[in-house]
Amino acid sequence: MAAIPSRPALRPACPNFSSGPCAKRPGYSLSALDGALLGRSHRAATPKARLAEVIERSRALLGLPPDWRLGIVPGSDTGAIEIAIWSLLGPHPVDVLAFDTFSRAWADDIAAHLKLPDVRVLAAPYGNLPELAEIRPDSDLVLAWNGTTSGARLPEGGAFIAPGHGGLVLCDATSAAFAMKLPYERLDVVTWSWQKALGGEAAHGMLALSPRAVERLLSHAPGWPLPKLFRLTADGTLLEGIFKGETINTPSMLCVEDALDGLRWAERIGGLDALVARSEANLAIVADWVAQSDWAAFLAEDPAARSSTAMCLRIVAPWFTPLDRAAQLGVANRLTGLLEAEDVAFDIASYRDAPVGLRIWGGATVEAADVAALLPWLDWAFARAAAEYADRLQPATP
Ligand SMILES: Cc1ncc(COP(=O)(O)O)c(C=O)c1O
Repeated sequence: MAAIPSRPALRPACPNFSSGPCAKRPGYSLSALDGALLGRSHRAATPKARLAEVIERSRALLGLPPDWRLGIVPGSDTGAIEIAIWSLLGPHPVDVLAFDTFSRAWADDIAAHLKLPDVRVLAAPYGNLPELAEIRPDSDLVLAWNGTTSGARLPEGGAFIAPGHGGLVLCDATSAAFAMKLPYERLDVVTWSWQKALGGEAAHGMLALSPRAVERLLSHAPGWPLPKLFRLTADGTLLEGIFKGETINTPSMLCVEDALDGLRWAERIGGLDALVARSEANLAIVADWVAQSDWAAFLAEDPAARSSTAMCLRIVAPWFTPLDRAAQLGVANRLTGLLEAEDVAFDIASYRDAPVGLRIWGGATVEAADVAALLPWLDWAFARAAAEYADRLQPATP
């Protein structure tokens, strides 16, 4: 086993590398919330205008097509995508791309809970993408653009979705929006949450609908009851207010202020191009380090499929790979525990049902200098965890 490198001198200025809630933007302080409209009704004109401002700034930053609707919905990204799944699916066969924990959950929802008769789950193991050529041209397609727990993302441009795809395309983009370009011309529903790429607070979701999605909403009545929390229509008409800041239920105006702060920061640094560039720079730094590492590799083997936000790594040291999962977890937990104790990195363990390894968030709110500063610490902590593991295996001296 390699010698333990000396303790790195430099720590990341911000040790928050969690994949959600994600790091706050650089320079964030609670004073950003000073103007929050606390203790006010969200239905009054000024607070409602703040909600509408979140919608308008998000729309402009992302470059949503002008004829799409965008609303704030309850339940974070889960709420947004579930609203879409439960409101829109039914009339067409459904294909689901299941290549991370969340897209598998959506597949389970559709097959086991909605019990739709014609559902095909195109699955792939963690780190891989499903066989995209198998998508049926007339299906409603449900997918996560970026597998937050698997570190794999779909190909930029979305050419695997035929122009004029027959069914609707429902895209959970929560770990892609504000970090990757999305091909809106091939999508019909796009969802995300505030707690991800702009470092906002949890519990609020965004739901973007193409005109085709709205048409489906108005022409299709689901064969199951919908709770008020999911309803986008009433008496056969669209609840247009939802897309102007009239939320279905009560939002947190503190979170609204925080979301606006994140959006304004993104505008100040140069908009979507700058956000994407910052995230790609973080991926490049990790990729350079992985290229010379003898113990870490990307879970996504195909470089083109590697996520720039959820950078998922597996441990490939030859003594480690044959260990059973419990032993692997013991080593990985020690590694992450050492980094946490040193205030170097928080929350970088891989997701609980993903292969044992590390997951480093590389969205735009994470500074490249912090990613660079983290990497020597990974080598240090891995070598220490490895040495301790080897010591435990030594037979006790008589
Ligand atoms: C791809 C994906 N979908 C959905 C979710 C759930 O998001 P939320 O907890 O904001 O509802 C996550 C959370 O990490 C995710 O990564």
